[in-house]
Amino acid sequence: MVVDSSLRPSAARTTVLVADDTDSVRLLFQKLLAAEGHTVVTAADGVAALDLVRMHRPDVILLDVDMPGIDGIEVCRRLKMDPATRLTPVVLVTGLSELQDRIKGIEAGADDFLSKPVHPHELRARVASLSRLKHLVDALDSAEAAFVALALTIEARDPTTKGHCERLAARAVLVGRTLGLSGDDLDALHRGGYLHDVGKIGIPDSVLLKAGPLTDPEFALMKRHTEIGDSLCAPLQSLRHVRPIVRSHHERLDGSGYPNGLRGDEIPMLAQVVGIVDVYDAMTSDRPYREALGPDTVTKFLLDEVAERRFSRTYVEAFLDTLRMSAAPLVR
Ligand SMILES: [Fe+2]
Repeated sequence: MVVDSSLRPSAARTTVLVADDTDSVRLLFQKLLAAEGHTVVTAADGVAALDLVRMHRPDVILLDVDMPGIDGIEVCRRLKMDPATRLTPVVLVTGLSELQDRIKGIEAGADDFLSKPVHPHELRARVASLSRLKHLVDALDSAEAAFVALALTIEARDPTTKGHCERLAARAVLVGRTLGLSGDDLDALHRGGYLHDVGKIGIPDSVLLKAGPLTDPEFALMKRHTEIGDSLCAPLQSLRHVRPIVRSHHERLDGSGYPNGLRGDEIPMLAQVVGIVDVYDAMTSDRPYREALGPDTVTKFLLDEVAERRFSRTYVEAFLDTLRMSAAPLVR
């Protein structure tokens, strides 16, 4: 059931899901929150709550712990495992003395707790503060979406790099999986694939699109895209795992890379992975000053770089494994 209050239109952008199997509690919460200007969606059990989350994308979720079927703690756990909902604040509503429920709730990723009987002031205050937090998170996400749009705009400036970011993101994640990475690392590889060259926004077309070899001063300018990109990403907390990729994807193990001439393990692992995928994709694509090189030629180049101790053997082999897997016929 959905109640859309028009009492305070300015606050009505917040949607709250209330899941509780007790009719009187559900109705009370609904009345109190609708009076605050929130749009309220209600569910009487865990399955209905999960369906309504998919349908309405609420900003704050209140879950009774004891519900038939899937209980509140399990609903919370599933929401926190889903990338689409893991940043949505979840409040578990428990009995006063239910310490065990609270411990399980913390383990399931609950953001906050309310104890029954819930005081109306506490309910309003808790929902207000969590909805502010959610709007802040949404604003950060929007900022990141703007960054990705910016990166794709940069790619569009140079028609020969079309699809580079998308291929890089997908391939970097495959390499990460082959290396046994998970969670935040795979997420950073995916976003880093899109954002690694975001700093090229600061490089003039005369250098970025030059149909020939760069002069030394032009190359020095081009190298700056790593530091410019890092500075652009710095204000966004949500990009903290992506910044090392943006800054260090041109570093090489022997210290010959840029911008800092890092050596060996000083180079962040995810930046090394993106660096390898970046080189392969660039060399197997047409450029204004040369035609695309064949996969065998570029594979040999990567192995030579390993022999020269510029790329990690482990990461290059993981990358080549992903190429072999992609080329293998599907088993039906
Ligand atoms: Fe780059």
